[in-house]
Amino acid sequence: MEEADQSNDSCHVSVMPDEIVEWVSGCKPKVVIDGTFGGGGHSRRMIDEIESLELVIGLDRDPAVVRRDDDDAIDRLSVFLASYEQAAKALAACEVDHADAMVLDLGLSSDQLADRERGFSFQFDGPLDLRFDPENGIPASEWLARQSEKAIADAIYQFGEERYSRRIAREVIAAAKRREPVRTVHQMSDICRRCVPRSKNHDIHPATRTFQALRIVVNDELGILTRTLQAAPDWLSVGGRMVVISFHSLEDRIVKQAFREDDRWNILTKKPLRPTDAEVAANPRARSAKLRIAERCD
Ligand SMILES: C[S@@+](CC[C@H](N)C(=O)[O-])C[C@H]1O[C@@H](n2cnc3c(N)ncnc32)[C@H](O)[C@@H]1O
Repeated sequence: MEEADQSNDSCHVSVMPDEIVEWVSGCKPKVVIDGTFGGGGHSRRMIDEIESLELVIGLDRDPAVVRRDDDDAIDRLSVFLASYEQAAKALAACEVDHADAMVLDLGLSSDQLADRERGFSFQFDGPLDLRFDPENGIPASEWLARQSEKAIADAIYQFGEERYSRRIAREVIAAAKRREPVRTVHQMSDICRRCVPRSKNHDIHPATRTFQALRIVVNDELGILTRTLQAAPDWLSVGGRMVVISFHSLEDRIVKQAFREDDRWNILTKKPLRPTDAEVAANPRARSAKLRIAERCD
C-alpha cells in the first residue's frame, strides 16, 4: 500500500468537528484511522487538539484527494489511497496492530461536488460518472447502459427512496432505444425533472434522490459500510471508539443496526448526535448529519 503526499488546499468544511475531537479524545488515542480523509479537516483538528495522538492514518478512495501536492507534509499523518474497508492493510503498512479510534464521515466532500468532471453536482453538466475512484469500477452512465428497466427502477427506489423510480427507469430505457443513451449529468437530471413533481416547498431538487441512488450503486457504498462495521472490532483496541457521521437514513440504519447486533460494541450514543443550529447556519451541508459512537468492548 503506497503512502501519499498531503496538502490543505481543500474547500470542504468539516462536519461536527468539535464533537469528533471530543468523542475521539475521550479514549486517549495514540492511533486513529480517519477512514474518509477528504479535505483532511477532521484529521488536522485531531492532530492539533488531541495530545495523546501519535499517528493518524488517513484513507480515501479518491485519487484527487491523496494526490494533492504538499511541501510541508503534516507531522503524525500518513494518508493512503484506499477504501476504508482496507483499514487493516493500512495498519499493517504503518506497523501498528490496532487503532484506538476510527472515524467515518460518509458521503462526498465539497471538493468532489465542485469538480465538474465527476458528475456529483447537477448544477454542472459533464459526464455522468459518480465514482469516488474514477480509476476503478464503471461510471454511472455505463451502469445504466448495462441494466434492465426493472433493475434501474429497483436501484433508484431502494437506494434513493424515490417514489417515481419506475417512470425514471422507463425514460432512461426509452432514451437508449432512441440511440440517445444517458451519458451526461444534464440528460439524467432532465429526465428526473420530467418524471418527479417538484416538492411543495422546492427544498429538494427532483434529481437529488436518483443521483444519491446511482452514487451508492456505482461505489457500493452500503456494502462497504456494512462489511467495515462487521470487521472494525478486530481493528480497534479494547476501549477503542468507532465514530460515524452519516447523511441519510439508509446509512444511519446500517450503523445503528451494526452497533446493536454485535456484542463487541458498547453503544455510547443511544440517540444520534446532531449538529448545533449554529453549525447548520454556518455550514448547511451539516443539516442532515447524524453522529453515532460505539466503543469496542472486551
Ligand atoms: C465527507 S468527505 C470527508 C471529509 C473529511 N472528514 C474532512 O473533514 O475534510 C467523504 C470522503 O470520503 C471518501 N470516501 C467515500 N467512500 C470511501 C471509502 N469507501 N473509502 C475511503 N474513502 C471514501 C470520499 O472520497 C470523500 O473524500
